[in-house]
Amino acid sequence: MATIMDGKALSLKLKEQMKQRIAQLKQQGINPKLVVVLVGDNSASQVYVRNKHKSCGEVGIESEVITMPEQTTQQELLEVVERLNQDETVDGILVQLPLPKQIDEKTVLRSILPEKDVDGFTCRISADERDLMPCTPAGVMEMLRYAGVAVAGKRCVVVGRSNIVGKPMAALLLQADGTVTVCHSKTRDLAAVTREADILVAAVGKPHFITADMVKEGAVVIDVGVNRMAEKKLLGDVDFEAVEKKASFITPVPGGVGLMTIAMLMKNTVRAAAQQTI
Ligand code: GUN
Repeated sequence: MATIMDGKALSLKLKEQMKQRIAQLKQQGINPKLVVVLVGDNSASQVYVRNKHKSCGEVGIESEVITMPEQTTQQELLEVVERLNQDETVDGILVQLPLPKQIDEKTVLRSILPEKDVDGFTCRISADERDLMPCTPAGVMEMLRYAGVAVAGKRCVVVGRSNIVGKPMAALLLQADGTVTVCHSKTRDLAAVTREADILVAAVGKPHFITADMVKEGAVVIDVGVNRMAEKKLLGDVDFEAVEKKASFITPVPGGVGLMTIAMLMKNTVRAAAQQTI
């Protein structure tokens, strides 16, 4: 049976550390502030934004939510981002995705100053320590580190190539000296590839897509999937019950990577605040 990698416990621990760091910063007159921009009325986004706002309050980060109507134009949103870019009291800017269809996400995300981009979407993933790392992949790396799983030399397989998770995840594993393969909808004989993985990251967005026959005995299995089913039930991309019997480590859904994403957002905001004042 696998050891469960508890994202809740680790995120609470990180939040405690952050509280202390924020208290120190405040003594130096630095007051970390995050602004989240929510456009439209996507109900899942509303829940995510509320959770981010609540977490900020818990660790002592000032946070503001700007809500804009569904019909907002790209120009109106760009003007808000520009105002926040210029505002010296704002350390982190997060534009919640998805955006309404009349707005081009790439144009908006690119307009955020990299030093305020707490999502880490503009990150080049170089060895530059000032870069703010993309939150979900950074949360996964933190979980691996905490569990004592070394990445160097391991066969790492990432299933999914999204800009938010799959691609930056592959880049961070590569940076940590893993041997990385990225799989996607056109990959031939997917199961043969995933069975090679010492570390398997599932970021597909399909409930229970990774079944036990796709996993090597003793693999470390990270589930980034958050699939909302009927009655608000959350399912991961991994068939947890079956895969747990084969894996050495596994993340649950809920209670795994998702909570780490918010913790990393807080961490990026604190780093942004500390760096911008230097
Ligand atoms: N929508 C779903 N996940 C995310 C995220 O991590 N950041 C932003 N900005 N939007 C999201």
